[in-house]
Amino acid sequence: MNVLVGYASAHGSTAEIAEFIGKELAKRDFNVTVSNVADVQSLDGYDAFVLGSAIHAQMWLTEMSQFLERFRGKLTNMPVAFFITCIRVLEPDGYEHSLHEYVNHRILKQFHLKELTAFAGRLEMDAVDWNERWTLAARYDGAEPPGNYNQDFRNWQTIQAWSQKVADKFLFV
Ligand SMILES: Cc1cc2nc3c(=O)[nH]c(=O)nc-3n(C[C@H](O)[C@H](O)[C@H](O)COP(=O)(O)O)c2cc1C
Repeated sequence: MNVLVGYASAHGSTAEIAEFIGKELAKRDFNVTVSNVADVQSLDGYDAFVLGSAIHAQMWLTEMSQFLERFRGKLTNMPVAFFITCIRVLEPDGYEHSLHEYVNHRILKQFHLKELTAFAGRLEMDAVDWNERWTLAARYDGAEPPGNYNQDFRNWQTIQAWSQKVADKFLFV
């Protein structure tokens, strides 16, 4: 089975998660391609998709929206596992909140959605320019100031477990 792991990432942490998921799926004998969604030219030949985006200003990145729009017809009813990376997930109600508020469910409904999750990402304020700092400060909807989340929160065990779940579900497509 040919799987595309497509990501949208501004500062690289979501890209690294996508690479990691790709390696986990490859261990389970899937034929995996990992790509920035902006570079994907065609979906021909793929049987299933893992798609993931960083969250900026409570939404997935524009590159992900453009990808989903470009390939809307091709993705309809295809097996898709979707993940977002953010920091809001770290707050007490964060998992439910981020999946409810940050994900466009109207769009995901078009797919055969096999899995949906939110991972804690990485925020390194030194790498965030002034424009982004403004967006983050103005639009972050958690209780904590976003600047308090200045580190790498990715939990590779959680990501590995999710990859295994996705592999199991893709096998039963
Ligand atoms: C400009 C900007 C806006 C952000 N907005 C949000 C947000 O609204 N909610 C949230 O939980 N995280 C927000 N984040 C945190 C990112 O989602 C998190 O750092 C993610 O891991 C970044 O992934 P990347 O390294 O692939 O770009 C924001 C980060 C930046 C830089």
